Amino acid sequence: MEKFDVAVIGGGPGGYVCAIRAAQLGNKTVIVEKDKFGGTCLNRGCIPTKALLHSAEVFEEMLHATELGISAENIAFDYKKIAERKEKVVSRLRNGVQGLLRAHKVTIKNGKATLTGKTTFKVGDEEIEASKIILATGSFPANVPIKGADKPGVMNSDGVLALDKCPESVVIIGGGVIGIEFATLFNTLGKKVTVVEMLPNIMNGMDLDICNSMKAILQKRGIDIYTNAKVVEIKDGLEVVFEYEGKQLSAMGEICVMAVGRRPDTKDIGLEELGINMNRGFVQVDEYLRTNIPNIYAIGDITGKIQLAHVASAQGLVAAHNATGENKVMHYNIVPACIYTNPEIASVGLTEAQARDKGLDIKIGTFNVNGNGRSMVMQVSDGFAKIITDAKTGEILGGHIMGPRATDMIAEIAVAMKAEATIEELADTIHPHPTVSEIIMEAAHDVEGLCCHKA
Ligand code: NAI
Repeated sequence: MEKFDVAVIGGGPGGYVCAIRAAQLGNKTVIVEKDKFGGTCLNRGCIPTKALLHSAEVFEEMLHATELGISAENIAFDYKKIAERKEKVVSRLRNGVQGLLRAHKVTIKNGKATLTGKTTFKVGDEEIEASKIILATGSFPANVPIKGADKPGVMNSDGVLALDKCPESVVIIGGGVIGIEFATLFNTLGKKVTVVEMLPNIMNGMDLDICNSMKAILQKRGIDIYTNAKVVEIKDGLEVVFEYEGKQLSAMGEICVMAVGRRPDTKDIGLEELGINMNRGFVQVDEYLRTNIPNIYAIGDITGKIQLAHVASAQGLVAAHNATGENKVMHYNIVPACIYTNPEIASVGLTEAQARDKGLDIKIGTFNVNGNGRSMVMQVSDGFAKIITDAKTGEILGGHIMGPRATDMIAEIAVAMKAEATIEELADTIHPHPTVSEIIMEAAHDVEGLCCHKA
């Protein structure tokens, strides 16, 4: 039986990063993947959706090219080619992941791993032993158990990413991150989009100012959004029937996308048999990412913490160190979250509502994108930065940005929070001009009412 120090089961952004770090720390490491390296993020999530969205964004910019003094005629897109380019990006990155694993001398096994003991597992007929096992098996899209959910044309995010033809109309069940990104994609490509969300707000969990502004922007662009709506049935057509404000309404779509969250992929890998503590399918871990069996760790979507690729990777690093004898604690208070709408959205730390719910004495600074030169150059006027601080200490509690490059800029606030910089230090940091990042500095000045570029 082949023996390893560390075995990582699952090759997504949690697992492969974990395996590389484990190897860097001197462990003889093996990684097992039943499908494709890169997991959901690379093959069916973050990367392919952003590749599609980038094509849509360029298409939209070209439609407005004349406003920039550029003439372009017959602007059109070929969705098959858009989808092919997306696949090229994905396969290049996937090869990169395998190359990195090999470069770090991680042994790669392809196949489904099933635990057979606390330190043993099977991949096909091969039995493997490892002193430490790290579970990183990820998640799959959830479904709404309603009548008609099995009709042709009803699909989840995996189905949308496999399309090579652009649907003329789309009904999206679920106004979370995935739902809103797909709504942005098809709307930007000029297609009819309806979003049906059961909660009072789209993008639940984001700061309310962002939810409300983005809802208004999406509606202005022609997307029909129904919140507080309960989906009843999907009829042929496809006709999605839902209850809204006491009435029964319906929306027609060539396809219907279910974007209602993701379930952990923890079945049939021997977890129950080993007695690993689970809760609704999620593996229970302590702050060191250990399960109740001390040499078995879990990271990523299966832990039911925050289902984001960068959280999985961060957990992977912590687990790799702990599997090598350290006691690193996994923290979740400074986790940036990004939504690739147009304009982009990004957030870190507490929302205003969360800070108020905690009874904190807060001060808030904001600055609108329409007062920012670089944004004007880029023809964007929607959006703002909002920073929430502790009124007494100046601690930065949260930052929320809607605007161009928001997803890149949020890292600045995350670093400031991690370094425990005060809002004064953030405001005193000279920001380059002209850049969109100035909206963060202006919002920081605004906390004390000292923003020079605000009337
Ligand atoms: P989500 O949990 O963000 O949103 C699902 C939405 O569906 C919720 O608003 C929920 O209220 C709604 N819903 C559930 N059942 C419903 C029903 N029967 N009728 C109408 N609405 C219903 O989950 P989502 O968007 O599927 O994303 C899954 C995970 O992937 C999330 O954790 C998300 O953070 C992550 N993700 C992150 C991305 C990013 O960082 N840019 C992109 C895509 C996904």
